[in-house]
Amino acid sequence: MSIAVEEGQLGGRKLRRVVYEAHQLQKRVSELATEISGAYGPEDRLLLIGILKGSFVFLADLVRRMTIPLQIDFVVASSYGPGQSSTGDVQLLYDPPAPLNGRAVLVVEDIVDSGTTLLNLVPKLRARGPSSLEICALLHKRKIPLDPRWVGFDAPNEFLVGYGLDLAEDFRHLPYIASLQLTDELTDVS
Ligand code: IMP
Ligand code: MG
Repeated sequence: MSIAVEEGQLGGRKLRRVVYEAHQLQKRVSELATEISGAYGPEDRLLLIGILKGSFVFLADLVRRMTIPLQIDFVVASSYGPGQSSTGDVQLLYDPPAPLNGRAVLVVEDIVDSGTTLLNLVPKLRARGPSSLEICALLHKRKIPLDPRWVGFDAPNEFLVGYGLDLAEDFRHLPYIASLQLTDELTDVS
């Protein structure tokens, strides 16, 4: 198939292959929406918390297929301290103001790679007393034994872009997910 990415946008980077076509993503997202809708009821006062920016496309598709009452908020998490060196700690640059106490919280993530983001974020959210806290990740590279309740696909250990995932802010808008051939200086994905 042809890949609808302008040569200019690639800036010398090469798409290796399409990993998930748009129709595969849509099918799997529908399945997840059905499963998740069946797991909660109105009394749960479900709050989906999307981790920005990567989850925004997935979250938007997911919630439009869900059939139970829910609310949506986001967190902006940064794994870098002020000095731009990776600290392994996650700072919340935007934090949902709504009280989580007694509510069902579902954290929506684009991809689990090292797990740093979720392993730091989940305890912070859990400390606020939700009635339950589950994770839904579209992709999981299975590098760490973190087991979200819902996972879209076990992803190959390649650098993936599209459907919200970026390389230096490019490619988020692609309706499919592709892997990129990276030069050495572009391999830092955190
Ligand atoms: P973790 O904290 O290492 O699990 O990484 C999670 C974040 O890293 C994701 O939310 C993405 O923003 C980014 N990330 C990890 N792997 C990839 C990838 O293959 N492509 C694009 N972004 C990635
Ligand atoms: Mg990113």
